[in-house]
Amino acid sequence: MTYQAEYEKSINQPEVFWAEKAADIPWYKRPTRILGKDEQGTDRWFVDGELNTCYAALDYHVENGRGDQIAIYYDSPVTGIKARLSYSELRDQVATFAGALAAKGIEKGDRVIIYMPMVSEAVVAMLACARLGAVHSVVFGGFAPHELAVRIDDAQPKAIVSASCGIEVQKVIPYKQMLDKAIELAGHKPDFCVLLQREQETASLIEGRDYDWQSLVADASPAPCTPVLATDPLYILYTSGTTGKPKGVVRDNGGHAVALKYSMKAIYDMNPGEVFMAASDVGWVVGHSYIVYAPLLAGCSTIVYEGKPVKTPDCGAFWRLIEEYKIKAFFTAPTAFRAVKKEDPEGEALKKYDISSLKNLFLAGERLDPPTFHWLKELVGVPVVDHWWQTETGWAIASNQMGIEPREAKAGSATVPTAGFNVQILDSKSHQMPAGEQGSVCIKLPMPPGCLTTVYGDHGRFRNSYMSTFDGYYLTGDGGYIDKDGYVFIMGRTDDVINVAGHRLSTGEMEEIIASHSGVAECAVIGINDELKGQLPVGLVITKDGYEGTDEALEAELAALVRSEIGAVACYKQTIVVDRLPKTRSGKILRNILRSIADGKEYQVPSTIDDPASLPEIEAIMAENNIGVATA
Ligand code: COA
Ligand code: AMP
Repeated sequence: MTYQAEYEKSINQPEVFWAEKAADIPWYKRPTRILGKDEQGTDRWFVDGELNTCYAALDYHVENGRGDQIAIYYDSPVTGIKARLSYSELRDQVATFAGALAAKGIEKGDRVIIYMPMVSEAVVAMLACARLGAVHSVVFGGFAPHELAVRIDDAQPKAIVSASCGIEVQKVIPYKQMLDKAIELAGHKPDFCVLLQREQETASLIEGRDYDWQSLVADASPAPCTPVLATDPLYILYTSGTTGKPKGVVRDNGGHAVALKYSMKAIYDMNPGEVFMAASDVGWVVGHSYIVYAPLLAGCSTIVYEGKPVKTPDCGAFWRLIEEYKIKAFFTAPTAFRAVKKEDPEGEALKKYDISSLKNLFLAGERLDPPTFHWLKELVGVPVVDHWWQTETGWAIASNQMGIEPREAKAGSATVPTAGFNVQILDSKSHQMPAGEQGSVCIKLPMPPGCLTTVYGDHGRFRNSYMSTFDGYYLTGDGGYIDKDGYVFIMGRTDDVINVAGHRLSTGEMEEIIASHSGVAECAVIGINDELKGQLPVGLVITKDGYEGTDEALEAELAALVRSEIGAVACYKQTIVVDRLPKTRSGKILRNILRSIADGKEYQVPSTIDDPASLPEIEAIMAENNIGVATA
């Protein structure tokens, strides 16, 4: 089938299209109602289907002759450990851990937070929850205790699964201490915690609350798979929104399994038995979808890599992995390859490895900047695929579809929409923009299977954030255009979300933290371009009258404050003290103008501006700090 025929069918006959794709998943009860609405009026896929995602990802393969195939290669340059788990071994470990959780009272619908480094046990814990019909919520290890506490209070987990420590290049990150602090900060307390003790650090356990992973599984008997409805939640994954409170993206079981299985062939051209690697972290959506669920649903082998693109031990790490595990498709964030390029612009390290197994290289998480695209294309000699997606969608909205009909790539474009995503560019009055003109990137409803179904515990926020700006459309929050050939170009967020080293962060949240400093009267945080990390946050701060600290001291204090509240991943370092910020007459800071200045883009001065003279002043200050000038 050509791409065009496939795509048109998915848009014009969505129920027929997805019913066919659903046949690829083992159901306990095959769905007959393909697309329906829930009581809140949200589109829901496969409403009467019943399945278990863990069964589809593991037991089904074992029962169908794939038991001896490697499911997970664990590769940890930071500890020197390499291990492999076959589908049978992984199924057994998952069933036993699920049994251990069940014995401690975890049941269908209970929430379990997983706060772990990149070890196979993180995957085991996720799949064990899925096996029981419990809802996991994985929290990225780079987040500080306060962020974990916010998620504990929102998800109200019965249990938390964690580890004694994580390892970041040469630093040991004390996960258990952060977990204890988070539980202390949170109002909600879990019934119990399970701790994986690692050699690098042994955590002390709190009697009656904490259980050692090994001891717990030693006494456990394997749990069977619990059938769930396709529409039952599989997981909650928190992502940055425009306020301090992260949004709990809720993913269902059925739509998720069908969409991910479909994507493995259509987008990544993967067949059962082949090796797929996503160099990300299970704490992010890329990790959920393409380290864990999609490769296993498709009967592929996946890699759990506890390392970095560089420094573990060097910039040849990715090439070594591709050679060693004969990886067919490799997926990471552009920032990771920018780190490699910075250390090895000529690609010398690649010469030491045979990467002939590699057929396609996939990039996502942020825009693939054209220089990195060209560098990679020339160096690697296989198609370089920029594909665009979000935590909310769970899989790519636009991509070059390597398993259907590969196209000539265009630098800076995520190529064409994937099945079921009716991507349209709208102006502020909901009119479609002509080809080549930028607007708000929206998706006409219904969204295909696999996308978020609500924001956990706050359906109103789901409606307000995504569904109410343009009637009948999902608002992606990205700006961009579609060219005359139908190629989608995503140019950046139109809201207060920034992307730092492939990590999605909220400037609104940083502002709330900065504003809590006793010397700060007002502030605005914006993302500025950064050659390595894509964007970096910068704070523009007005100090309180009578504040006597120096600008340098304030900068250091604010950096420490953001680090302690959000975590090291926020990378907040730079603060610029200003006398005033451009505002509307009603007192709203004109953040979109600040963003335009920072990006060196032209902007229109709104008629509602209170103090037009503040603009040249802010431009001059930014220019003094080398912000916005290079691209102006
Ligand atoms: N646990 C604890 N701390 C973490 C962490 C984790 N899982 N991940 C990152 N951090 C810490 C880092 O140690 C660093 O701390 P420091 O300020 O004390 O040095 C800080 O957070 C910033 O990390 P990062 O932004 O990742 O910068 P880096 O310089 O360590 O590495 C890259 C830069 C580009 C190599 C790295 O960001 C990378 O590999 N990015 C890929 C991103 C990715 O996979 N995104 C997922 C979407 S596809
Ligand atoms: P996350 O939810 O962390 O996956 O971040 C999603 C956001 O990252 C999107 O809304 C985009 O702003 C950005 N993004 C992800 N992939 C791409 C891409 N290929 N091109 C441009 N922007 C991207």
